[in-house]
Amino acid sequence: MCGIVGYIGDGQAQQILTNGLKKLEYRGYDSAGIAVYNGEEVQVCKSKGRIAVLEERLEHTPMEGSVGIGHTRWATHGRPSDENSHPHTDESGKFSVVHNGIIENYQELKQDLLDKGVIFTSETDTEVIVHLLADLYDGDIISTVQTAVSKMRGAYSLGVITEYEPDKLIAVRFASPLVIGLGERENFIGSDISAVLEYTRDFYILEDGEMAVITRSNVSLMKMDTNQAVQRDILRVDWDMVQTEKDGFETFMLKEIYEQPNAFRKTILNRIDSAGKNIVFEGLNLSAELIQDLDKIYIIGCGTAFHAGLVGKYVIEELTRIPVEVDVASEFRYRRPIITKKTLVIVVSQSGETADTLAALRESQRLGAKVLAITNAPGSSIARDADDVIATIAGPEIAVASTKAYSSQLIVFYLLGLYLAQVKDTILGDERKLMIEALCKLPEQAEAVLQRANDIQLYAESIKDRKSLFFMGRGIDYAVALEGSLKLKEISYIHSEAYAAGELKHGTLALIEEGTPVIALVTQTELYEKMVSNIKEVKARGAHVLGVTLEENIELHRVVDDVCLIPHTLPLFTPILSVLPLQLIAYYASRSLGNDVDKPRNLAKSVTVE
Ligand code: G6P
Repeated sequence: MCGIVGYIGDGQAQQILTNGLKKLEYRGYDSAGIAVYNGEEVQVCKSKGRIAVLEERLEHTPMEGSVGIGHTRWATHGRPSDENSHPHTDESGKFSVVHNGIIENYQELKQDLLDKGVIFTSETDTEVIVHLLADLYDGDIISTVQTAVSKMRGAYSLGVITEYEPDKLIAVRFASPLVIGLGERENFIGSDISAVLEYTRDFYILEDGEMAVITRSNVSLMKMDTNQAVQRDILRVDWDMVQTEKDGFETFMLKEIYEQPNAFRKTILNRIDSAGKNIVFEGLNLSAELIQDLDKIYIIGCGTAFHAGLVGKYVIEELTRIPVEVDVASEFRYRRPIITKKTLVIVVSQSGETADTLAALRESQRLGAKVLAITNAPGSSIARDADDVIATIAGPEIAVASTKAYSSQLIVFYLLGLYLAQVKDTILGDERKLMIEALCKLPEQAEAVLQRANDIQLYAESIKDRKSLFFMGRGIDYAVALEGSLKLKEISYIHSEAYAAGELKHGTLALIEEGTPVIALVTQTELYEKMVSNIKEVKARGAHVLGVTLEENIELHRVVDDVCLIPHTLPLFTPILSVLPLQLIAYYASRSLGNDVDKPRNLAKSVTVE
């Protein structure tokens, strides 16, 4: 989703801004641009397409100057085009703005400006902001931005520069994330930390309703509405920059797939006591009384995080017998959920910034629920607003399609399920110990699955030209089938659907014809026979079936065309291992089609609009 970067200092802004934009590429975008003040005026260079296109233009017309703003745009209002790209400027060219988010009342504001004779050159909501600034300017950019913002509704963040006061860079945050990087005689803004981590490790995280006035040597934070100064602790980031490089892998996604075993180890580390019997979550506020009293849990997320929640439902219900409902955040927030003081809401979000998940969190709290967040971003809005946080320790995930964040979320659900069962005493201590032992084996078993990537690559190449594909499974396998199908769609653009295997014959079977690829997940021993029957149903209609099953079910190869074996583990833990071949299938299918795996078309990593 749109990315903002900004610079004010002694260095050359052009390079710093384009470097920052490249770091934000992973969020997904369709155009890019920068504006730089050259000592006399603000120059703008922007274009539809990749940053490489922008860089080509900049090679012909380089920009000198040490104050500037930059932007990657993910189209919401108006198609991707040079005109709709940011930064936007007013008619005089004196003000430049970059914007992430949506101005909900932009039509109204635009009409007022049109009535005053202002000429618009783009279809964006953003352009309204810059004309508004020019219209309202009273000789002080700080109060002008405040007045303009007071007229705007929506969730957004802004970066503003003006020729009138070129010693200032203004940043505003209303629900869309924005951070300020602090340097020596230079300061930065970014939609996230990674944008400027190359230049500094010290950050202020701007909060909703706050504004920052940034000069070369100073940063002042204030509340937008009251002008009251805000004191904020500096966040020192210890992410190693190396972690955001590809480390010899051809893509971030492949690197992240292979980082999973270590992400599991780190997520488990320090969460099991030395006897290997109990789960410990240091700093968790969730009281034993609340856990004892819980009558319902909601798990909420979007996309892959929602799919992790589906696995979480099976885990928590099985281990604790507490009823669990799973919902996509954009539905949950508008369906008047039934929440009491005995309800726990678990929000799942890799980025911690997904707008719908954040809104669902706030709505749940408003209705009186305690909210526990599972996130990979401890400093994020979701982590800050939740009553409790359990972090996945997956490290930065750059590829748009989530892999290690998803599987680390599953690890957290296992730990959490076991923890709730421990407090509620719903499983025996010995059984818990056995489960913990099995959990601790998963990283090594995942490594074994990833070592067999070659066979999976061959299979992936065999399906790359198929128009459509089906995934099927029962029980917890169905939850994994949904994630496998999503992965394939996201990066290979091959249509696929996931079905509860028993449901296929109620309609979808009509779509199976000679050669249709079907990927069947068969990891649940209790459901093995049922799955074999379902596989026979599709085989009888000509499907070509790949079975993903446990090593002990090797005889499945008599029923299917291809088989992919995963090591033995407990039934609840199989998703961690069975999702790996599905990620690799999506990956290699996408690669063999020549797609940009890390940055699939139309998608964004962090969806900060509703
Ligand atoms: C976007 C990403 C998905 C991700 C979803 C939820 O759609 O492309 O990969 O699963 O957002 O993101 P979150 O950061 O909340 O987990």
